Amino acid sequence: MTDEILLLSGPNLDQLGTRSPEIYGSQTLQEHVARFTHLANDGGFSVRHLQSNFEGDLIEAVHGARDSSVAIVINAGALTHSSWALCDALASFPGVKVEVHLSNPAAREPFRHVSTLAGVVNGTIAGFGAQSYDLAVEAVRRLLTSS
Ligand code: DQA
Repeated sequence: MTDEILLLSGPNLDQLGTRSPEIYGSQTLQEHVARFTHLANDGGFSVRHLQSNFEGDLIEAVHGARDSSVAIVINAGALTHSSWALCDALASFPGVKVEVHLSNPAAREPFRHVSTLAGVVNGTIAGFGAQSYDLAVEAVRRLLTSS
């Protein structure tokens, strides 16, 4: 059985492509997921993706990942800056966890400078546009193979 990466996309990421393209680029979420999946498959992983605009859906997906996934890659959207519940859920996931952002929240409005997730993930990749997702696949691969 192939090791699975759970890719989670939070609120408003379903609007990528038309949502603030000057910040997030013109690619749709489907395009990011397709590229992520292609790279992950090349690295020997399968990918399950969930996008939700509802915090509880994402929390339940994290709970479920305990039994199915070796890693979680999460772009929690604005929940990154507010959700202690998602933080607690991720803290209890024993596998690899990578936080990812298209933009660089640290270079944006002050409310984006706090991440509730940063303290419970292995690391954060932010600010590289679509390449943030490429780098997240590579981070997972290296963390799981120590190479
Ligand atoms: C984002 C950054 C967040 O601050 C924002 O709320 C998003 C997208 C990013 O990928 O750059 O929805 O997570």
